[in-house]
Amino acid sequence: METNRLSNKLAKALNNQMTNEAHNAQIFLAYASWISDKGYEGIANFLFRHANEERNHMMKILEYILKRGAKVTIAAIPAPGPDPVSINDCFEKIFKSEVENTANIYNIVNLSMAEKDWATWNFMQWFVKEQTEEETLALDLLAKIKVAGGANAKADALYTLDKDLADTPDDAKLAQDVTVDNP
Ligand code: FEO
Repeated sequence: METNRLSNKLAKALNNQMTNEAHNAQIFLAYASWISDKGYEGIANFLFRHANEERNHMMKILEYILKRGAKVTIAAIPAPGPDPVSINDCFEKIFKSEVENTANIYNIVNLSMAEKDWATWNFMQWFVKEQTEEETLALDLLAKIKVAGGANAKADALYTLDKDLADTPDDAKLAQDVTVDNP
């Protein structure tokens, strides 16, 4: 008896998105490590925690694919790319990566709509909302670095920014109510 409730196309798209989310986690791990090495532990901590959020996104999709009776394929994760050249560059890269991820999410939403797979469409709405929040958070980071002087931010302004992010842990909880245990 056929128990797979996902089309091959959607299963492939969701599996790809799992890899995208894992790739995002690697990006945050790389940037967090890069910035920790520079001594900005507040920003590093913020980015390390965000890497976990990205991994949770991956797990959320993995669990959905299994739940729908389709096959999960764990693929190689692309390397995160070169380190940022500055904190400004780091935050710009984060924003760009979130916008790209939104486009990937929208593609799956479009596909589920075209196939009238309303279960997947409904599942993906969580990600649509999440991406709005993540883009807002990335914009907030860009606003903070802009106030600190953007690409020309001085050490004292970066120190304050680092402290600011270290002291406001709740800001970093992008999807704190959504974990693998509590999707
Ligand atoms: Fe899972 Fe930041 O997108």
